[in-house]
Amino acid sequence: MKNTIIALAAAGFVTFGTAAQAGDVDAGKAAYATCVGCHGANAEGGVGPKLAGQATADIVSKLNDYKAGKQVGPMTSMMAPMAAGLSDADIANIAAYTASL
Ligand code: HEC
Repeated sequence: MKNTIIALAAAGFVTFGTAAQAGDVDAGKAAYATCVGCHGANAEGGVGPKLAGQATADIVSKLNDYKAGKQVGPMTSMMAPMAAGLSDADIANIAAYTASL
């Protein structure tokens, strides 16, 4: 029994280590503060689409498209300035956060 608990704790730690490498959820939550007005407090959507639960890779690629000035959807002109100031780390962290919701 004791060994099982230790094994589970170790597995949890390894999983956390992988997630932190891909993007930091807490840092992403902090960076997401400027997005709340349009995407909702829990990324459930509002003026902008729902982000909660979308795949990390999708969020990263869309934010990079906005940043690069590509037309993504009909309201890209509203979203592009928001992505312009995000660093690669911000994007990875925000994607980790919204995927965790
Ligand atoms: C002024 C309102 C506004 C703010 C603030 C805003 N967004 Fe958006 N966002 C939008 C709109 C509108 C769209 C849809 C744009 C389009 O049609 O291409 C969008 C689209 C997106 C998409 C693509 C979603 C999809 O499913 O296609 C992502 C990802 C995104 N926003 C992330 C963010 C992040 C991260 C922030 C904060 C840094 C943010 N947005 C701030 C309005 C906003």
